[in-house]
Amino acid sequence: MLFYRRNFKSWIRIAVVMGIAGLAGLVVEHGLAAQDQSAATAAPESQVFTPAHPTVWSAVQEFFNYRPQPVQPIQFTHKVHLANGLQCVMCHVGVDQGPDARIPSDNFCMTCHRVIATDKPEIKKLTAYFNRGEDVPWQRVYGFLPSAHVKFNHAPHIRAGVDCSKCHGDMTKQTVAVRAVDHTMGFCIECHQQRNVSVDCVTCHY
Ligand code: HEC
Ligand code: HEC
Ligand code: HEC
Ligand code: HEC
Ligand code: HEC
Repeated sequence: MLFYRRNFKSWIRIAVVMGIAGLAGLVVEHGLAAQDQSAATAAPESQVFTPAHPTVWSAVQEFFNYRPQPVQPIQFTHKVHLANGLQCVMCHVGVDQGPDARIPSDNFCMTCHRVIATDKPEIKKLTAYFNRGEDVPWQRVYGFLPSAHVKFNHAPHIRAGVDCSKCHGDMTKQTVAVRAVDHTMGFCIECHQQRNVSVDCVTCHY
């Protein structure tokens, strides 16, 4: 049933691509351009970590499981911070304690950037958010469609010694985070079976 459904979804996607490629291409391009602009100019809290559909376009994207790489408000860089010796948990403080890894507040960033690289344009943007008392409206990179009703918990994985890179790729090569690993059900199940962890539906679904 599940595989039928997956195949059916792919089938629809293929049909759309082949059947009305020209038209779809045009629509997608225009949609994307609009999407990029709205991402860049949107009010800070409007697009943060929300599963709602602000537009019909986003509902259509969900239907086809089409997820463009998000455009971040500041060109953050994992590469540089990791090369400077920062650890994942210093910024993602929840990751070994509970379900969520969390993104640090600009307050935390400013502990260093009040003095470090203050002349750089990206740090000026950061400082401006901070001075306005706003958090940076980071766009979500990973996450599941609400309709899949997946529950995930970081802490047991970290405790069991599963490396971040297994699920997020090599961050030392990423500036802003990219969806380097596809979190499909098959991806989760494969490791759970190898490591003798429960594959009961209720382990991962509610
Ligand atoms: C422990 C100190 C520290 C913290 C905390 C920190 N940074 Fe940095 N950041 C650095 C250092 C060091 C550099 C490299 C500066 C350089 O190369 O001149 C850097 C570089 C950057 C750059 C690149 C600047 C450029 O254009 O060259 C950005 C953007 C940045 N940080 C954003 C952030 C954000 C956003 C946060 C919070 C999520 C943050 N930093 C937290 C130390 C820190
Ligand atoms: C077993 C796979 C797995 C491992 C290991 C893992 N993650 Fe994740 N991570 C995920 C999934 C799945 C999500 C999306 C969760 C969701 O949306 O409910 C996620 C989301 C995140 C997010 C987004 C914010 C949040 O709280 O959801 C951050 C940041 C993150 N992970 C950082 C890390 C760091 C840092 C490590 C290592 C210390 C790590 N992850 C290890 C699977 C993993
Ligand atoms: C200096 C702070 C800092 C450090 C150190 C850091 N991150 Fe991040 N991380 C961020 C910020 C800020 C974002 C939001 C911008 C982005 O998506 O790149 C982020 C985003 C992410 C995301 C995407 C979250 C989402 O929206 O789904 C993942 C995954 C992630 N980090 C994993 C890691 C891992 C793994 C490490 C260690 C190897 C690490 N990070 C180290 C600050 C940091
Ligand atoms: C690389 C291996 C690996 C991958 C990939 C992985 N897991 Fe796990 N997972 C584990 C291990 C190991 C544990 C058991 C930790 C323990 O014994 O407490 C676990 C535990 C869990 C638990 C907690 C179970 C409990 O008993 O509380 C949940 C929920 C879970 N995983 C969901 C997921 C989901 C959803 C994904 C895919 C996004 C995923 N896992 C991907 C290895 C993995
Ligand atoms: C180890 C974790 C895990 C287990 C166990 C698991 N699933 Fe899933 N399942 C997922 C993840 C993660 C997704 C979301 C995949 C995606 O977004 O591509 C998913 C997606 C699905 C979907 C598609 C939902 C949608 O709207 O696209 C169905 C249906 C589903 N699972 C049913 C089941 C059933 C039935 C079982 C038990 C036989 C089960 N799952 C066990 C992790 C799991």
